[in-house]
Amino acid sequence: MAFTSTARSLGTAPEPISTEEYRERQKKLYSKLQDSSALILCSSPTAVRSNDVHHPYRTNSNLLYLTGWSEPESVMLSIQINGDWKTILFLQPRDTVKEIWEGRRPGVEGALEGWAIDYAYPIEEINEILPKELERVGVVYHSVGLDSKVDAIVEGSINSKTRARQQIGEGPTQRIDPAGLISEMRLIKSEAEIKLMRHSAEISALAHIEAMKNGFPGIGEWQIQGLIEGCFRYLGASGWAYPSIVGGGENATILHYHANNMECADGDIVLIDAGSEFEGYAADITRSWPVNGKFSEPQKKIYNLVLKSQLAAIEQCVVGNEYLETHKAASRVLAEGLVELGIISCTAEEALENGELKKYFMHGTGHWLGLDVHDVGIYKPDGKPRKFEAGMVITIEPGLYFGGWRPDLNDLDPQWDGIGIRIEDDVLITKDGPDVLSSRCPKNLDEIESLIGTS
Ligand code: GLY
Ligand code: MN
Ligand code: MN
Repeated sequence: MAFTSTARSLGTAPEPISTEEYRERQKKLYSKLQDSSALILCSSPTAVRSNDVHHPYRTNSNLLYLTGWSEPESVMLSIQINGDWKTILFLQPRDTVKEIWEGRRPGVEGALEGWAIDYAYPIEEINEILPKELERVGVVYHSVGLDSKVDAIVEGSINSKTRARQQIGEGPTQRIDPAGLISEMRLIKSEAEIKLMRHSAEISALAHIEAMKNGFPGIGEWQIQGLIEGCFRYLGASGWAYPSIVGGGENATILHYHANNMECADGDIVLIDAGSEFEGYAADITRSWPVNGKFSEPQKKIYNLVLKSQLAAIEQCVVGNEYLETHKAASRVLAEGLVELGIISCTAEEALENGELKKYFMHGTGHWLGLDVHDVGIYKPDGKPRKFEAGMVITIEPGLYFGGWRPDLNDLDPQWDGIGIRIEDDVLITKDGPDVLSSRCPKNLDEIESLIGTS
């Protein structure tokens, strides 16, 4: 099977983040650190899947953000030498036997040539070098939990009560988690990041279109998953940014459905929440459509209501607005619509307060998106909802779920039973208003109907 010409219409891939941009990011972060401090960032641990097979490796996003370095068993150390911040990377050295089995490594020389670092050492040398370097600083910026060996060195360094330390008062006395500082930086995307995110969203949009074109009654959820994830790789993404959700019929009413092992029957809506990762950047798109190509009247009513709420939420994605305005707008439209359809018997106002709406719309309207699908960034700094700034990327993903199987919905009118609809797009905040990065993915009802089963 070949992917259709639509899938093959993806534009040229943007440039990866440049070494200069990594340097700028490092410089910006260093300017926020205390004098006489050191910063440590560890790669994520590898994880065994079973026996001698490992899960595909993906490093820690903070290390990736500051260096672009994606190899396992690596640690970045930043420290001031003669007043200048220097970036040091401990890494897996070249090793012919390991490289024959597992793949080529940049090693020390390759890292110095191609990455934004000043010094590189084999990872084994960290045990000797790191404690010595830490003796020169008062504060260590380090997030614990990724590398127990490094955690122990930092802990030992802070707790050390050597004679020399007692006499001259040198050595670290405090550990600070740098994650908050890095999150603030990651929250605002650069031009280069936006290009990569738009590309990731386009790959994902084309994969969703491919799924629509291949839809038919009886298609397996796993077949749709295979099409979508195959298309991600075909179009140059490293794979998915999170496990794909493909739920047909009542499976569409289960928020984190992952089994993807049922057939979609004639009359079912299939809800597909799937996004690719490109150069580390996530896309996150959901579309919901009837596998037989025609929305039934009840499905149409719910679909158009969710779409109306999504468009209302996207309209709120403007500089200066509190991010929660998106949820308020989506919730209001959904509550009013459900009252109008007779699904909710109290007023919309009451439904927003008394939990009635939450029975059918039980999650938030969105989250930050970036190197992680649920990206970093405090939503309520100082307890107040954050205001949108240009360069932030947020998902907008309202939904309605009518699972007649749920004991709390046992008086549900059967016409709604089994309908689960979520519509999710990735929205960049700009000074000119919302810019939907995933806009290549159709969401108007007629447009979707005209695509289903056309392949
Ligand atoms: N795909 C996960 C989410 O939408 O939050
Ligand atoms: Mn999402
Ligand atoms: Mn999603």
